[in-house]
Amino acid sequence: MTESSNVLVTVRDRIALLVINRPEKRNALDAATRRQILTALDLLKNNAEVRVLVITGAGDKAFVAGADIAEFEGRTPVQQYETMSGPSIFDAVESFPRPVIAMINGFALGGGCELALACDIRIAADTARLGQPEVNLGIIPGGGGTQRLPRLVGTGAAYRLLFTGDLIGAEEALRIGLVDEVVPAARLEEHVMKLAASIAEKSPVALQLIKEAVRASLRSPLDEGLRQERGLFGVAFASEDKAEGVAAFLAKRKPDFKGR
Ligand code: COA
Repeated sequence: MTESSNVLVTVRDRIALLVINRPEKRNALDAATRRQILTALDLLKNNAEVRVLVITGAGDKAFVAGADIAEFEGRTPVQQYETMSGPSIFDAVESFPRPVIAMINGFALGGGCELALACDIRIAADTARLGQPEVNLGIIPGGGGTQRLPRLVGTGAAYRLLFTGDLIGAEEALRIGLVDEVVPAARLEEHVMKLAASIAEKSPVALQLIKEAVRASLRSPLDEGLRQERGLFGVAFASEDKAEGVAAFLAKRKPDFKGR
């Protein structure tokens, strides 16, 4: 386990668990925590043992309750601009070269909801509450909420959350597509780890290429995305993992993917 006070990282059985650890502040993202998340992601990205990343918050109350509001006070617009112009945890999560699962164990608000939006899959405890309450502070989301939320849930549902700042429960989040699954809080970790383990068995090459292709779909017109998919398919087709996957199927055995 690597421990830097606000972020705890464990790697076990090819799954990295990153825990945002400020439970007394509902895991709010202050500058130190954001820096530590970026450092942890950088280390994990270069750790070939890691095949899936799970992100969660410490304690049973919050995933992440947003940016640290206390830091807003006294900060000039220029200082805020400089803070936001630096490397972004949201972009770092979205571009992390392996699948990332948000394990939403409680409040996911503001930057916390945006962090979940930057993950590839969102699994919520039935006790979780999600929302973009920035409007209540007289500001707007700054971690991609106005961009990733409407892409995921459609403009109407996004506007409702963004205009009202209302929090919604896990079941409603499931209904609008903001989360992908809801499980009883007591079973959340077991459920997410099982999902992560099933993904961790797949070819890391294929997983990375799938992520790249899906990200292209969010950024490109269809023709361009399809062209990128064909190129990425060619890379997968040339991999050792493809040779192993096909050989294992024909020999009726389980494949052992090496990520090459
Ligand atoms: N930034 C800074 N501190 C925060 C915080 C945030 N985003 N969210 C919670 N905290 C702090 C509280 O100030 C409090 O600190 P204190 O004990 O020193 O007074 C502590 O965390 C516990 O919060 P509390 O409100 O007492 O817990 P709760 O369980 O009753 O409510 C929330 C939890 C998340 C609903 C509530 O804290 C909240 O609304 N937070 C702000 C959410 C938000 O607007 N996020 C968007 C920011 S842009």
